[in-house]
Amino acid sequence: MSQGQIAAKSETTTANRSSDTGRFWPVAMPSLEYTDAVARETAHLYERVKDVIPAIEWPVMAPYIKAINDLKEQRNAVILAHNYQTPEIFHCVADIVGDSLQLAQEAVKADADIIVQCGVHFMAETSKLLNPDKMVLIPDERAGCSLASSITGADVRLLRERYPGVPVVTYVNTSADVKAESDICCTSSNAVEVVESFGKDTVLCIPDEYLAKYVATQTDVKILSWKGHCEVHERFTADELNAYREANPGLEIIAHPECPPEVIDVADFTGSTSGMIGYVKDNKPAKALLVTECSMASNIAAEMPEVDFVQPCNLCPHMKRITLPKILDSLVELKDEVTVDPLVADRAREAVERMVNLRS
Ligand code: 13P
Ligand code: SF4
Repeated sequence: MSQGQIAAKSETTTANRSSDTGRFWPVAMPSLEYTDAVARETAHLYERVKDVIPAIEWPVMAPYIKAINDLKEQRNAVILAHNYQTPEIFHCVADIVGDSLQLAQEAVKADADIIVQCGVHFMAETSKLLNPDKMVLIPDERAGCSLASSITGADVRLLRERYPGVPVVTYVNTSADVKAESDICCTSSNAVEVVESFGKDTVLCIPDEYLAKYVATQTDVKILSWKGHCEVHERFTADELNAYREANPGLEIIAHPECPPEVIDVADFTGSTSGMIGYVKDNKPAKALLVTECSMASNIAAEMPEVDFVQPCNLCPHMKRITLPKILDSLVELKDEVTVDPLVADRAREAVERMVNLRS
């Protein structure tokens, strides 16, 4: 995109803002040289990640990190990063980190003109729903999700016809179209509470079949579901985990509820990504295996070198589209801007807000 196009886009985006402070004007790409000054100014950040990022890689990362942090200030931008982002993003440029629920809650409070969402597209869309007047950017709009692409708004309308009167709880890992057809959203950390909030015998909990099965083990409510799966968590098997346990005496296995039931059965604890992190911090196991996306163990290992993480590495290809160079491009060029069709935005926002407000 040329500079002229950026200016035109920025004017459109900021047309309704009460004060244009110049934060939306184009800027030049900063220098990416690893100078003594860059080394000095980023040394405290390297301290945070030195156990998980080799020293030889730092001279490549540090200039991006410094440029991103400078530009964030200049543009009054805030970076929200999911727990699956890589350590240099999670520990060195993010302002707020967390699971899907925490990111949605923090998006509401974000005191910034621009939100850069380091995560996948449905997370950025959720931030936009909750911040219609802010500019929301995702460094690569192709960052999708196998759960989000497993179901459409039309599918939800058909489910409503088939199960009239049954409340529809939709995982946040869905498009705004799907959220707009739902009564309320949920995340892996509040799904049981959300399902029970209706006081009904039966609830549709879509689209993650395995999350729905896990919720069904935690409540008396009858749960109807859909056949969506997370392509990262569905790959784990009980046999694989039992083999790790046998080879690593004392190993604690900590699973995400997007895993198949046979995997959850062999785990010592099951919870959302932040629930898993909390479990490790509270219990400080000598050896732990996190049955989830691979970067999360690296992010905790940076803070807790005393825990030995056994790391079968299943990566989310969508989360991994977000990199330091793309975050910098995003802030320089103000791209990729996330928009939500106004015809669905209000109804989708209501479903997300009902969830965010459930306990407040
Ligand atoms: P949580 O962080 O909400 O547990 O979700 C995990 C996930 O797969 C997000 O894509
Ligand atoms: Fe979607 Fe799974 Fe990737 Fe999360 S880890 S974004 S649920 S594909």
